[in-house]
Amino acid sequence: VSVIEAERIIANHERMPHSPEYENGSAYTQDTYRPIEQGVVPITDAGFIHADAAYDVVSASAGYMFRMQDHIKRFTESCAKFGLENPYSEAQTEEILNNLVRLAGLKDAYIWWAVTRGELEEGDRVSAQYKNKFYAFVTPYMFIHGDELRTRGAKVKISTEFKRIPKESVDPTAKNFHWMDMKLSVFEAIMSGAEWSVLTDFDGNLTEAPGCNIFLIKDGVLKTPDDGCLEGITRQTVFDLAEELEVKLEVTKIPVQELV
Ligand SMILES: Cc1ncc(COP(=O)(O)O)c(C=O)c1O
Repeated sequence: VSVIEAERIIANHERMPHSPEYENGSAYTQDTYRPIEQGVVPITDAGFIHADAAYDVVSASAGYMFRMQDHIKRFTESCAKFGLENPYSEAQTEEILNNLVRLAGLKDAYIWWAVTRGELEEGDRVSAQYKNKFYAFVTPYMFIHGDELRTRGAKVKISTEFKRIPKESVDPTAKNFHWMDMKLSVFEAIMSGAEWSVLTDFDGNLTEAPGCNIFLIKDGVLKTPDDGCLEGITRQTVFDLAEELEVKLEVTKIPVQELV
């Protein structure tokens, strides 16, 4: 791809009519739709205090949700892996997310939702004691990087200071709030003059990058880590495209030395 113009194209998408209070986005908290500025989390919510939550994110582009059913299904699976119960059904969840996009009038949107364990209470050492809570928000689509950087490619640092949290500690296939390894690796990368980071596991195999799965092409073969990462919907889309284009794909362990 020689020219990437995602930002310019999005800037040309006319926004749908919406109430001015939803200009910056919309939120759904305490079972109520609100302007995003009024979307708040109770301070004793275990999601906030203990990162005790599952979440998901989907984007809308030109008014189309990207593989919404796949995201909803993954979210249900993430909740199950952490013993969380979404107070809303899959159909209700989808309806809430659609309503949030509609309220904000956005065609290109960042759509986030989560179920947390809920507010701390006496007896909270037993999961069943909690009342799990649902939160969601929608904002104008946010890019991690701009068109210029995407066109030339980012300078990436393989973190030397931080390893990906082991899958035996927090299951990375369940989308979760444990971002400290990823966030600090980005700060490390930026401080060393790079633009994004990639993390390895404790055996020196590539896992993923903050907010994205990784692929490399070596000797005409497309490769991606088999383990220690989120089973991303974008990753699945790359699998689908590789099959369609008959590109050889290996889902395998990738020692960091393969990049040298
Ligand atoms: C850690 C991590 N890996 C990968 C991804 C990419 O997942 P998807 O393609 O489903 O958006 C994300 C997305 O937020 C992520 O947080």
